[in-house]
Amino acid sequence: MTFRSPGDTQLNADVSWASFDPIAYVDHNYRALQAEDEEIIHIVRDHFGDHFRGRTPGPVSGIDVGAGANLYPALAMLPWCDEITLLERSSANVRYLESQVGSYDANWDQFWRVLCKNEAYAALDMDPRAKFRDAVRVEPGNLFDLVRHEGRWSMGTMFFVAESMTTSHKEFARGVECFLRALAPGAPFAAAFMEHSRGYHAGEHFFPACDVGELEVYESLEPFVGEFKTMRLKASAAVREGYSGMIVAYGRRNSDSGIPTD
Ligand SMILES: C[S@@+](CC[C@H](N)C(=O)[O-])C[C@H]1O[C@@H](n2cnc3c(N)ncnc32)[C@H](O)[C@@H]1O
Repeated sequence: MTFRSPGDTQLNADVSWASFDPIAYVDHNYRALQAEDEEIIHIVRDHFGDHFRGRTPGPVSGIDVGAGANLYPALAMLPWCDEITLLERSSANVRYLESQVGSYDANWDQFWRVLCKNEAYAALDMDPRAKFRDAVRVEPGNLFDLVRHEGRWSMGTMFFVAESMTTSHKEFARGVECFLRALAPGAPFAAAFMEHSRGYHAGEHFFPACDVGELEVYESLEPFVGEFKTMRLKASAAVREGYSGMIVAYGRRNSDSGIPTD
Protein backbone atom coordinates (compact mmCIF):
# COMPACT_ATOMS: atom_id res chain seq x y z
CA MET A 1 0.00 0.00 0.00
CA THR A 2 1.41 3.40 -0.95
CA PHE A 3 0.80 6.45 1.19
CA ARG A 4 2.23 9.89 0.53
CA SER A 5 4.35 11.57 3.17
CA PRO A 6 2.52 14.40 4.93
CA GLY A 7 4.53 17.16 3.20
CA ASP A 8 3.70 16.09 -0.37
CA THR A 9 1.19 18.27 -2.18
CA GLN A 10 -0.72 16.99 -5.15
CA LEU A 11 -3.16 19.37 -6.76
CA ASN A 12 -6.15 18.23 -8.78
CA ALA A 13 -4.61 19.29 -12.09
CA ASP A 14 -1.43 17.26 -11.36
CA VAL A 15 -3.29 13.95 -11.16
CA SER A 16 -3.53 11.47 -14.04
CA TRP A 17 -7.32 10.99 -13.85
CA ALA A 18 -7.30 8.94 -17.06
CA SER A 19 -5.43 6.25 -15.07
CA PHE A 20 -8.48 5.67 -12.82
CA ASP A 21 -9.59 2.06 -13.36
CA PRO A 22 -13.40 2.02 -13.04
CA ILE A 23 -13.74 -1.76 -13.12
CA ALA A 24 -11.19 -2.27 -10.34
CA TYR A 25 -12.94 0.53 -8.40
CA VAL A 26 -16.39 -1.06 -8.81
CA ASP A 27 -15.00 -4.49 -7.91
CA HIS A 28 -13.48 -3.06 -4.73
CA ASN A 29 -16.34 -0.80 -3.66
CA TYR A 30 -19.64 -1.49 -5.40
CA ARG A 31 -19.75 -5.05 -6.78
CA ALA A 32 -21.36 -6.02 -3.47
CA LEU A 33 -23.34 -3.62 -1.29
CA GLN A 34 -21.28 -2.57 1.78
CA ALA A 35 -22.94 -1.78 5.11
CA GLU A 36 -21.66 1.81 5.03
CA ASP A 37 -23.17 2.49 1.61
CA GLU A 38 -26.45 0.99 2.77
CA GLU A 39 -26.46 3.40 5.71
CA ILE A 40 -25.68 6.35 3.43
CA ILE A 41 -28.41 5.35 0.96
CA HIS A 42 -30.89 5.11 3.82
CA ILE A 43 -30.10 8.69 4.92
CA VAL A 44 -30.05 10.16 1.42
CA ARG A 45 -33.22 8.48 0.13
CA ASP A 46 -35.19 9.64 3.20
CA HIS A 47 -33.81 13.17 2.86
CA PHE A 48 -34.85 13.43 -0.80
CA GLY A 49 -38.15 11.60 -0.12
CA ASP A 50 -38.97 14.04 2.72
CA HIS A 51 -38.02 17.05 0.61
CA PHE A 52 -40.36 16.18 -2.24
CA ARG A 53 -43.23 14.64 -0.23
CA GLY A 54 -46.48 16.43 -0.99
CA ARG A 55 -44.87 18.74 -3.57
CA THR A 56 -45.62 18.78 -7.23
CA PRO A 57 -42.35 20.13 -8.53
CA GLY A 58 -41.93 21.45 -12.06
CA PRO A 59 -39.16 19.94 -14.16
CA VAL A 60 -36.34 18.75 -11.90
CA SER A 61 -32.72 18.56 -13.03
CA GLY A 62 -30.12 16.75 -10.95
CA ILE A 63 -26.33 16.67 -11.04
CA ASP A 64 -23.91 14.12 -9.61
CA VAL A 65 -20.48 15.73 -9.46
CA GLY A 66 -17.46 13.45 -9.95
CA ALA A 67 -19.77 10.51 -10.60
CA GLY A 68 -16.80 8.21 -11.27
CA ALA A 69 -17.92 4.62 -11.30
CA ASN A 70 -20.77 4.97 -8.82
CA LEU A 71 -24.39 5.03 -9.98
CA TYR A 72 -26.16 5.07 -6.62
CA PRO A 73 -26.16 8.87 -6.14
CA ALA A 74 -27.87 9.20 -9.54
CA LEU A 75 -30.29 6.39 -8.67
CA ALA A 76 -31.11 8.29 -5.45
CA MET A 77 -32.25 11.29 -7.55
CA LEU A 78 -34.03 9.23 -10.21
CA PRO A 79 -37.71 9.39 -9.12
CA TRP A 80 -37.85 13.21 -9.38
CA CYS A 81 -35.51 14.04 -12.24
CA ASP A 82 -36.34 14.63 -15.88
CA GLU A 83 -32.64 15.09 -16.46
CA ILE A 84 -29.54 13.99 -14.51
CA THR A 85 -26.05 15.22 -15.41
CA LEU A 86 -23.17 12.96 -14.46
CA LEU A 87 -20.15 15.28 -14.44
CA GLU A 88 -16.84 13.47 -14.55
CA ARG A 89 -13.23 14.47 -15.25
CA SER A 90 -11.62 11.07 -15.92
CA SER A 91 -11.94 9.84 -19.52
CA ALA A 92 -11.91 6.23 -18.25
CA ASN A 93 -14.80 6.93 -15.90
CA VAL A 94 -16.70 8.80 -18.61
CA ARG A 95 -16.45 5.66 -20.79
CA TYR A 96 -17.67 3.52 -17.88
CA LEU A 97 -20.65 5.82 -17.24
CA GLU A 98 -21.55 5.91 -20.93
CA SER A 99 -21.49 2.11 -20.96
CA GLN A 100 -24.06 2.10 -18.12
CA VAL A 101 -26.63 4.50 -19.57
CA GLY A 102 -28.30 2.09 -22.01
CA SER A 103 -28.78 -0.66 -19.41
CA TYR A 104 -26.81 -0.53 -16.19
CA ASP A 105 -25.06 -3.61 -14.77
CA ALA A 106 -26.83 -6.02 -12.41
CA ASN A 107 -24.71 -5.05 -9.37
CA TRP A 108 -26.63 -1.74 -9.20
CA ASP A 109 -29.93 -3.56 -8.60
CA GLN A 110 -29.06 -4.20 -4.94
CA PHE A 111 -28.62 -0.41 -4.45
CA TRP A 112 -31.98 0.27 -6.13
CA ARG A 113 -33.64 -2.29 -3.84
CA VAL A 114 -32.43 -0.39 -0.75
CA LEU A 115 -33.77 2.85 -2.24
CA CYS A 116 -37.13 1.13 -2.82
CA LYS A 117 -37.60 0.74 0.94
CA ASN A 118 -38.82 4.34 0.65
CA GLU A 119 -42.20 4.61 -1.06
CA ALA A 120 -41.09 7.46 -3.36
CA TYR A 121 -38.79 4.99 -5.14
CA ALA A 122 -41.08 1.98 -4.89
CA ALA A 123 -43.82 4.04 -6.55
CA LEU A 124 -41.78 4.74 -9.70
CA ASP A 125 -44.16 3.74 -12.48
CA MET A 126 -41.50 2.55 -14.91
CA ASP A 127 -38.46 0.30 -15.10
CA PRO A 128 -35.60 2.17 -13.37
CA ARG A 129 -33.26 1.23 -16.23
CA ALA A 130 -35.59 2.89 -18.73
CA LYS A 131 -35.93 5.99 -16.54
CA PHE A 132 -32.13 6.08 -16.07
CA ARG A 133 -31.61 5.79 -19.83
CA ASP A 134 -34.08 8.64 -20.51
CA ALA A 135 -32.79 10.98 -17.81
CA VAL A 136 -29.02 10.53 -17.64
CA ARG A 137 -26.52 12.55 -19.64
CA VAL A 138 -22.80 11.97 -19.09
CA GLU A 139 -20.84 15.21 -19.18
CA PRO A 140 -17.03 15.11 -19.37
CA GLY A 141 -15.84 18.11 -17.38
CA ASN A 142 -14.20 19.75 -14.43
CA LEU A 143 -16.10 20.59 -11.27
CA PHE A 144 -14.12 23.82 -10.88
CA ASP A 145 -15.79 25.03 -14.11
CA LEU A 146 -19.25 24.73 -12.52
CA VAL A 147 -18.89 28.40 -11.56
CA ARG A 148 -20.16 29.11 -15.07
CA HIS A 149 -23.45 27.39 -14.20
CA GLU A 150 -24.40 29.02 -10.92
CA GLY A 151 -27.86 27.93 -9.69
CA ARG A 152 -28.55 25.68 -12.68
CA TRP A 153 -29.56 22.37 -11.05
CA SER A 154 -32.53 21.70 -8.78
CA MET A 155 -30.93 18.87 -6.77
CA GLY A 156 -27.42 17.48 -6.47
CA THR A 157 -25.04 14.91 -5.06
CA MET A 158 -21.27 14.74 -4.70
CA PHE A 159 -19.87 11.55 -3.22
CA PHE A 160 -16.23 11.08 -2.19
CA VAL A 161 -14.95 13.77 -4.55
CA ALA A 162 -13.92 17.08 -2.89
CA GLU A 163 -11.58 15.33 -0.42
CA SER A 164 -10.55 12.54 -2.87
CA MET A 165 -9.13 14.61 -5.74
CA THR A 166 -6.33 16.69 -4.16
CA THR A 167 -4.20 16.98 -1.02
CA SER A 168 -4.98 20.71 -0.81
CA HIS A 169 -7.47 21.97 1.79
CA LYS A 170 -8.00 25.05 -0.37
CA GLU A 171 -9.02 22.91 -3.36
CA PHE A 172 -11.21 20.77 -1.09
CA ALA A 173 -13.15 23.84 0.10
CA ARG A 174 -13.30 25.23 -3.42
CA GLY A 175 -14.69 21.90 -4.70
CA VAL A 176 -17.50 21.98 -2.12
CA GLU A 177 -18.23 25.60 -2.99
CA CYS A 178 -18.39 24.91 -6.74
CA PHE A 179 -20.75 21.97 -6.17
CA LEU A 180 -23.12 23.97 -3.98
CA ARG A 181 -23.06 27.09 -6.15
CA ALA A 182 -24.25 24.97 -9.10
CA LEU A 183 -27.51 24.35 -7.19
CA ALA A 184 -30.54 26.63 -7.18
CA PRO A 185 -31.68 28.25 -3.90
CA GLY A 186 -33.55 25.67 -1.80
CA ALA A 187 -32.23 22.70 -3.83
CA PRO A 188 -31.81 19.53 -1.75
CA PHE A 189 -28.32 18.05 -1.78
CA ALA A 190 -26.37 15.13 -0.35
CA ALA A 191 -22.61 14.78 -0.17
CA ALA A 192 -20.30 12.14 1.25
CA PHE A 193 -16.68 12.40 2.33
CA MET A 194 -13.93 10.02 3.42
CA GLU A 195 -12.75 11.05 6.87
CA HIS A 196 -8.99 11.47 7.35
CA SER A 197 -8.24 9.70 4.08
CA ARG A 198 -4.60 9.25 3.12
CA GLY A 199 -5.34 8.46 -0.53
CA TYR A 200 -6.60 5.42 -2.38
CA HIS A 201 -6.03 3.04 -5.25
CA ALA A 202 -8.35 2.64 -8.24
CA GLY A 203 -6.54 -0.22 -9.92
CA GLU A 204 -2.76 0.20 -10.10
CA HIS A 205 -2.76 3.95 -9.75
CA PHE A 206 -2.71 5.75 -6.41
CA PHE A 207 -4.88 8.87 -6.03
CA PRO A 208 -4.47 11.71 -3.54
CA ALA A 209 -6.79 12.73 -0.73
CA CYS A 210 -7.09 15.67 1.60
CA ASP A 211 -7.24 14.94 5.34
CA VAL A 212 -10.60 16.26 6.54
CA GLY A 213 -12.79 15.56 9.56
CA GLU A 214 -16.35 16.52 10.44
CA LEU A 215 -15.32 20.08 11.37
CA GLU A 216 -13.70 20.80 7.99
CA VAL A 217 -16.70 19.30 6.19
CA TYR A 218 -19.09 21.41 8.29
CA GLU A 219 -17.09 24.61 7.71
CA SER A 220 -16.84 24.03 3.96
CA LEU A 221 -20.62 23.63 3.61
CA GLU A 222 -21.91 26.16 6.10
CA PRO A 223 -21.67 29.39 3.99
CA PHE A 224 -23.67 27.87 1.11
CA VAL A 225 -26.44 25.92 2.79
CA GLY A 226 -29.54 26.60 4.86
CA GLU A 227 -30.57 23.84 7.25
CA PHE A 228 -28.17 20.91 7.00
CA LYS A 229 -26.77 18.00 8.96
CA THR A 230 -23.49 16.14 8.96
CA MET A 231 -23.24 12.57 10.24
CA ARG A 232 -20.15 10.50 10.87
CA LEU A 233 -20.26 6.78 10.07
CA LYS A 234 -17.53 4.69 11.64
CA ALA A 235 -15.32 2.62 9.35
CA SER A 236 -16.39 -1.02 9.57
CA ALA A 237 -14.16 -3.71 8.09
CA ALA A 238 -11.32 -1.97 6.24
CA VAL A 239 -12.97 -2.29 2.85
CA ARG A 240 -11.66 1.03 1.65
CA GLU A 241 -8.05 1.66 2.56
CA GLY A 242 -6.51 4.39 4.68
CA TYR A 243 -9.41 6.29 6.23
CA SER A 244 -11.17 6.37 9.59
CA GLY A 245 -14.83 6.74 8.64
CA MET A 246 -17.25 8.43 6.31
CA ILE A 247 -19.11 11.69 6.70
CA VAL A 248 -22.50 12.26 5.11
CA ALA A 249 -23.92 15.74 4.76
CA TYR A 250 -27.40 16.62 3.58
CA GLY A 251 -29.65 19.64 3.51
CA ARG A 252 -30.67 22.42 1.16
CA ARG A 253 -28.79 25.13 -0.72
CA ASN A 254 -29.29 28.60 0.74
CA SER A 255 -30.01 31.68 -1.34
CA ASP A 256 -26.51 33.14 -1.14
CA SER A 257 -25.64 34.31 -4.63
CA GLY A 258 -22.30 36.07 -4.27
CA ILE A 259 -19.50 35.74 -6.82
CA PRO A 260 -17.23 32.74 -6.13
CA THR A 261 -13.94 33.65 -4.50
CA ASP A 262 -10.56 32.54 -5.91
C1 LIG B 1 -12.97 8.73 -5.17
S1 LIG B 1 -13.71 8.93 -6.74
C2 LIG B 1 -15.44 9.00 -6.29
C3 LIG B 1 -16.30 8.46 -7.40
C4 LIG B 1 -17.78 8.32 -7.07
N1 LIG B 1 -18.41 9.61 -6.90
C5 LIG B 1 -18.04 7.46 -5.87
O1 LIG B 1 -18.94 7.80 -5.09
O2 LIG B 1 -17.44 6.41 -5.71
C6 LIG B 1 -13.34 10.64 -7.16
C7 LIG B 1 -13.92 11.01 -8.51
O3 LIG B 1 -13.74 12.42 -8.74
C8 LIG B 1 -13.40 12.59 -10.10
N2 LIG B 1 -12.73 13.89 -10.23
C9 LIG B 1 -11.50 14.24 -9.81
N3 LIG B 1 -11.27 15.52 -10.07
C10 LIG B 1 -12.38 16.02 -10.66
C11 LIG B 1 -12.73 17.29 -11.16
N4 LIG B 1 -11.89 18.32 -11.08
N5 LIG B 1 -13.94 17.45 -11.72
C12 LIG B 1 -14.81 16.40 -11.81
N6 LIG B 1 -14.53 15.18 -11.34
C13 LIG B 1 -13.32 14.98 -10.78
C14 LIG B 1 -12.48 11.42 -10.36
O4 LIG B 1 -12.24 11.18 -11.73
C15 LIG B 1 -13.24 10.30 -9.68
O5 LIG B 1 -14.24 9.77 -10.52
